[in-house]
Amino acid sequence: MPEPEEEARVLEPSLGPDDAEFDRSLRPKSLTEFVGQSDVKEHLAIVLEAARKRGEVCPHLLLTGPPGLGKTSLAHIVSNEMGAQIRVTSGPALERAGDLVAILANLERGDILFVDEIHRLHRVVEEVLYPAMEDGAVDIVLGKGPAARTLHFALEPFSLIGATTRTGMITGPLRDRFGFVERLDYYSTDELTQVVERSARLLGVEIEHAGAVEIARRSRGTPRIANRLLHRVRDFAEVRADGFISANVAAEGLAVFHIDPQGLDRIDLAILKVICQTHGGGPVGVATIAMSVGEEPETVEDVYEPYLVQSGFLGRTQRGRVATDAAWRHLGLEPPIRKDPVGQSLF
Ligand SMILES: Nc1ncnc2c1ncn2[C@@H]1O[C@H](COP(=O)(O)OP(=O)(O)OP(=O)(O)O)[C@@H](O)[C@H]1O
Ligand SMILES: [Mg+2]
Repeated sequence: MPEPEEEARVLEPSLGPDDAEFDRSLRPKSLTEFVGQSDVKEHLAIVLEAARKRGEVCPHLLLTGPPGLGKTSLAHIVSNEMGAQIRVTSGPALERAGDLVAILANLERGDILFVDEIHRLHRVVEEVLYPAMEDGAVDIVLGKGPAARTLHFALEPFSLIGATTRTGMITGPLRDRFGFVERLDYYSTDELTQVVERSARLLGVEIEHAGAVEIARRSRGTPRIANRLLHRVRDFAEVRADGFISANVAAEGLAVFHIDPQGLDRIDLAILKVICQTHGGGPVGVATIAMSVGEEPETVEDVYEPYLVQSGFLGRTQRGRVATDAAWRHLGLEPPIRKDPVGQSLF
């Protein structure tokens, strides 16, 4: 059994500066280049076209969904498609109300303000956003006490694009002020295969279809991971083979880096282990799971569970989370004999 540190290293090839650069260079630039998410793309295409026809700015848009599924990419795509400038910031970066006011005051007509991790906006900053989104204005309080005055000034029409991995943490008033909300879902193996093939083309890497499928299958439904694994397999192919990624080279490369056959990462596995090994398969409350794996309950619910449920490893019941037989087997354990087999009855 490797040390936890060691395990983390091998299961999650690090996202170093190199990978971040790689991420940016592979980012799709238009809706047509953006693979999958057909509903989201269709909605966006309609809304953007309508706004363009009427000469209006794009309505405020909230993008939600687990990390690495394309929220930031879509924000940039909207700016490209609208021919608009984009200003990028994030919830935690805006510490004081004045930080946001300064940005808003500098926006030009039609500009896009992209706020990543919008669920982490400070309360006072969020309150500046309400009138800005609704009435296109901000109110600034000057001075303190009886001498305080409120200054009301109008902003140029702009579009706010918010991104969040934590839908549950967006306050109602903020959520209601968005013109539309789109949720990104995990990608199918077919879609991820297209992502891998597209990235390989851009990088000038030769890969056979079956090699791309091999990488796609282990990418946890996530394009960012697909690109990262392609990166590692390309290294492997260049050093240990002739650079061509055949199905065999892909499989060997992924094995060398100890990539989980289903793409599960360290936390996914830790969650399954807690349920199976410590709690006999469950049911276990999400708070207990979260504490055992060192994450916030909301992160477990929003970031990890959806993928585990979708891949048939985890069931949610009234009394807590249960591991399916597939989860036991994935950990190399024999599922316990039950009168009512948990996995089958749920899926
Ligand atoms: N639909 C897609 N088609 C092709 N490539 C994609 C797609 N979605 C994402 N990618 C790739 O995955 C990378 C990560 O996507 P992006 O940064 O947009 O995710 P994100 O949802 O903003 O993640 P986070 O929540 O961590 O900020 C991109 O750089 C891009 O290369
Ligand atoms: Mg992002």
